[in-house]
Amino acid sequence: MRIGTASSSLWLRCFYIFPCQAALATSMVRRSLTIPTRPSAFRSDHGKCWCSASPSVVVVADDKSYGDKQVISMTPALYKYILSNVREPLILRQLREETASMRGSQMQVSPDQAQLLAMLVQILGAKRCIEVGVYTGYSSLAIALVLPESGYLVACERDAKSLDMAKRYYELAGVAYKVDAIHGLASDTLKSLIQNGESCSFDFAFVDAEKKMNQEYFELLLELVRIGGVIVIDNVLWHGKVADPMVNDTKTISIRNFNQRLMEDDRVSISMVPIGDGMTICRKR
Ligand SMILES: *[C@@H]1O[C@H](CO)[C@@H](O)[C@H](O)[C@H]1NC(C)=O
Repeated sequence: MRIGTASSSLWLRCFYIFPCQAALATSMVRRSLTIPTRPSAFRSDHGKCWCSASPSVVVVADDKSYGDKQVISMTPALYKYILSNVREPLILRQLREETASMRGSQMQVSPDQAQLLAMLVQILGAKRCIEVGVYTGYSSLAIALVLPESGYLVACERDAKSLDMAKRYYELAGVAYKVDAIHGLASDTLKSLIQNGESCSFDFAFVDAEKKMNQEYFELLLELVRIGGVIVIDNVLWHGKVADPMVNDTKTISIRNFNQRLMEDDRVSISMVPIGDGMTICRKR
């Protein structure tokens, strides 16, 4: 997510959470965005809402059984702070900056997301990874950079031009020998890996591609990863649309259905994480 777009999504989120105090919330959020030196914040506490000196916005669940637990909600200032706490390698920064002016740059994962993916790969001690949906390569490069010398990443992308850029950066970073960049439909690539007898041989997979295909990719990847292996799915919160009853477009519905099926899927343990546009981490049982 870009800092520039965070303010509008913040407004929408607050509007949605506090419909009865919409006007108040709106004026408070606007003030907090226009007067950064004296930011206002508000919280919902079972219907009540008031100002505090804190620059951040917190949310409390409507359901009283969650008590007064406050969870953080993103603001432009807070997101800037998070980005300032990401250790982004220079080569990733260069790739991000080159991608920023390109069509589709909103598809690039955020630096904080990529850092979490790289962390998961390291915690797992992963050697064999798959990425579905490379775009210009930011997340796959972040993964390749932390893979051991013997590491292997299958990077699937259907757009040849963006895959060429990713390959250029794998070369620049000196990790091209770890990456098998495959141009084509990811489902064909994954099926051929299964046909080649590579089932249960991968440690980690990341999916950031056509959202309507999530369930199909997930099924193929569940076959390809070992028990204890991890599959991470991006965009599971879909700019908040998954929780907005006024939105019923086919993509949002397919993400909602996918999330619900994951919730009921006892083949994996799951954790939905509100980072970037939302990622669900699934561990194969
Ligand atoms: C969207 O779909 C849900 C479930 O079918 C329905 O309850 C809701 O009213 C729909 N919302 C709109 C705005 O059409």
